[in-house]
Amino acid sequence: MASRVLFSSQLTFPANRPRETSIAPSLRPYRNVLSFSFRSSVDRFAMRIRPLASFAPTVVAEVDGSRDEARRRKKLAVFVSGGGSNFKKIHEGCIGGGSVNGDVVLLVTNKKDCGGAEYARSNGIPVLVFPKPQRESSDALSPTELVDVLREYGVDFVLLAGYLKLIPVELVKAFPKRILNIHPALLPAFGGKGLYGMRVHKAVLASGARYSGPTIHFVDEEYDTGRILAQSAVRVIANDTPEELAKRVLHEEHKLYVEVVAAICEERIIWREDGVPLIQSKDNPDEYY
Ligand code: GRF
Repeated sequence: MASRVLFSSQLTFPANRPRETSIAPSLRPYRNVLSFSFRSSVDRFAMRIRPLASFAPTVVAEVDGSRDEARRRKKLAVFVSGGGSNFKKIHEGCIGGGSVNGDVVLLVTNKKDCGGAEYARSNGIPVLVFPKPQRESSDALSPTELVDVLREYGVDFVLLAGYLKLIPVELVKAFPKRILNIHPALLPAFGGKGLYGMRVHKAVLASGARYSGPTIHFVDEEYDTGRILAQSAVRVIANDTPEELAKRVLHEEHKLYVEVVAAICEERIIWREDGVPLIQSKDNPDEYY
């Protein structure tokens, strides 16, 4: 895959145009610092992250992929353990002229009868069970065999959408910078082993945090520690229940995941020199967030 270098002169920051519809926090100069500006006017807030002066290297990032590669329709494998509402939204984005230039070619699950697996079967998407339940372990796929199957299908990206098992290191190594996960709270807080489902929302409420929202991040060998690619802010209301907060966050997850999958399928991800991935704006290719 071709790779081109992006120079600092190509990075522009929209000083007078706060973005209300960005995929993720946008970068813009604010009194000599870079600030995060979140998408909704209701939820907008700013957070200083680092001095602008230290963000002026000659080479700031690399963009993967040639123009042909950007146009090629990508093959996606989605991993689920439950109802699969994020998977359904991604699939809907792929079909019928949706915003995603890709196709879901494989559904991987550890629960063969879950809602996500049922939806896949009824839409003609092959379902692979991994890992197999212990009672069927004699014919379980090994992690290397899983990688082989994904390669046979020509999978470009692996999308975790409510998959509760740790991804084997063999898979992480075979798909570097090609595996994404969605987490229902703002990382790096409220993540890690055991923080899933309603437990996440209970932890957010117990902390007193005023904002929550989905995080989409690249996957490494640990739970929820990979590089953050996109976030969306959801306001926490004083008398929220975990269920109410979960519902509002899930609504944002559906929008954010489809937007991010559209970006990865068009090769619009760049890696800043310090290892932070950014999304290149579709409307203005000189903007990154
Ligand atoms: C979502 O909240 C996601 O953030 C988390 O698991 C949940 C999956 O929901 N990782 P669904 O199966 O997509 O409805």
